[in-house]
Amino acid sequence: MKATDRARRRQATVPRLRAMKSRGEKIVMVTAYDATFAQMLEDGGADMLLVGDSLGMVVQGLDTTLPVTVDEVIYHCRAVSRAARLAHVVGDMPFMSFQGDPREALRNAGRFLKEGGAHSVKLEGGRAVADSIALIVSAGIPVVGHIGLTPQSVHAMGGFRVQGKTQAAAELVLEDALAVEAAGAFAVVLEGIPSDLAATITETLSIPTIGIGAGAACDGQVLVSYDLLGLTRNLRPKFVKRYAEFYQDGVDATAAFADEVRQGAFPAPEHGFGTVKKDGGETAAPERGLRVVGRASGYGPEA
Ligand code: KIV
Repeated sequence: MKATDRARRRQATVPRLRAMKSRGEKIVMVTAYDATFAQMLEDGGADMLLVGDSLGMVVQGLDTTLPVTVDEVIYHCRAVSRAARLAHVVGDMPFMSFQGDPREALRNAGRFLKEGGAHSVKLEGGRAVADSIALIVSAGIPVVGHIGLTPQSVHAMGGFRVQGKTQAAAELVLEDALAVEAAGAFAVVLEGIPSDLAATITETLSIPTIGIGAGAACDGQVLVSYDLLGLTRNLRPKFVKRYAEFYQDGVDATAAFADEVRQGAFPAPEHGFGTVKKDGGETAAPERGLRVVGRASGYGPEA
């Protein structure tokens, strides 16, 4: 994103995100799990940063998102929301934090805003969680729905499978979409459904749809940042486009560092802090060899 475009950007509030649908402006959502990535993704032009429970798979190395806890997502939310300036931060409610008693769902949702600094929460499921969505929204907490392929239901679905492929199944997904909208969600993620079904849902709903593996007709798109940056080594799902190859870049950079360390080429003199003054005056570091100075945007010794 150009610096001029960045300067023109404004806070991505719920009303602005909703208005983007009526203006035909696409919403860009990406997942973020820490402050450095949040800053980079926002600088790249992301409107929404989703602190997804996908962190279980890409950060924690799990096979599914099921073991992820509310405390863990909130921890990552805090890091992301500290860095986000203009992007709307969505906290993803993990498995079993909202599927039961709507009052418990509300209590958990509140924690994402109070403790995590998120602007809204996301819940997987349609009709089955409509009561929870309605109660959370009634407390002034904006909600993003998530229907179609819902990874928290991986075992019920028999794997991460595209949903709504038959006419009957497609009608159920549409019913879920309508239920989520009626419950008060301000946007809905459509994951892993046929493109024509996503187009129908997008036309039918007044709230924005944000697709992932749901075709181009959605009002916005979301990708797991590790996928779009090429940080995942073996995982190349069909619906993902890799816009960079950070994993290979990281391997190559580490190999170059390792070579230089082993050959004694790093650190070079310009990476060091010179020598101790020998004129009887002050040394650069009277006590510990280095004066460590805290900085707003860095760490380690300054000079
Ligand atoms: O957890 C997540 O990253 C998500 C996206 C895939 C939409 O829910």
